Amino acid sequence: RRVVVLISGNGSNLQALIDAQSYDELGGEIIAVVSNQADAYGLKRARDAGINAVALPHREYESREAFDGALIKVIERHEPDLIVLAGFMRMLTPIFVQRFYGRLLNIHPSLLPAYRGLNTHARVLADGAREHGASVHFVTEELDGGPVVIQAAVDITEDDTEESLKDKVHAREHLIYPIAVRWFLEGRLQLGVNGPTLDGTPL
Ligand code: GRF
Repeated sequence: RRVVVLISGNGSNLQALIDAQSYDELGGEIIAVVSNQADAYGLKRARDAGINAVALPHREYESREAFDGALIKVIERHEPDLIVLAGFMRMLTPIFVQRFYGRLLNIHPSLLPAYRGLNTHARVLADGAREHGASVHFVTEELDGGPVVIQAAVDITEDDTEESLKDKVHAREHLIYPIAVRWFLEGRLQLGVNGPTLDGTPL
């Protein structure tokens, strides 16, 4: 089973997936990593692991549609079973989402449906929330609105800062993303017409 990972930055989630693969725990192989930022550190992580690393700077395209068209081409060249968004900080067009519908996963730093969008750690703190976390979800046209597959929660303590929360949430992300990817690649996780199922049971 073949995976393409899309990133924009550091790629610590990509690293968690690479590590899982190295322990034979991913259920498939990361064939390529594509970044819309040429200087993303995650591209180095990919190269270091012997994975094809592709920079596709979105600024070189005149529209969102043109960029997504190029991205679709690069992805399809690798014939992936699954496309994993791991800190990919670009909104995707409906054409892109439809093309890969049901085989597109994203990870988001909040307990969805709470705190969609950016700056989740700061917003959670400002609200005085007690709990925070991370969610893996199938991607639909609604930003951070697709059906959730797996979540992990963290407690918020009085001394938490944006940075400390970010670290806590990242640690959870690195645990749950390889699990979700493995479920999918082993055929256990699917997006059906009535939402996601795991081993045939609705999530
Ligand atoms: C993660 O917090 C992820 O939830 C969000 O972007 C961040 C990416 O971090 N979508 P990294 O590049 O995987 O370290």
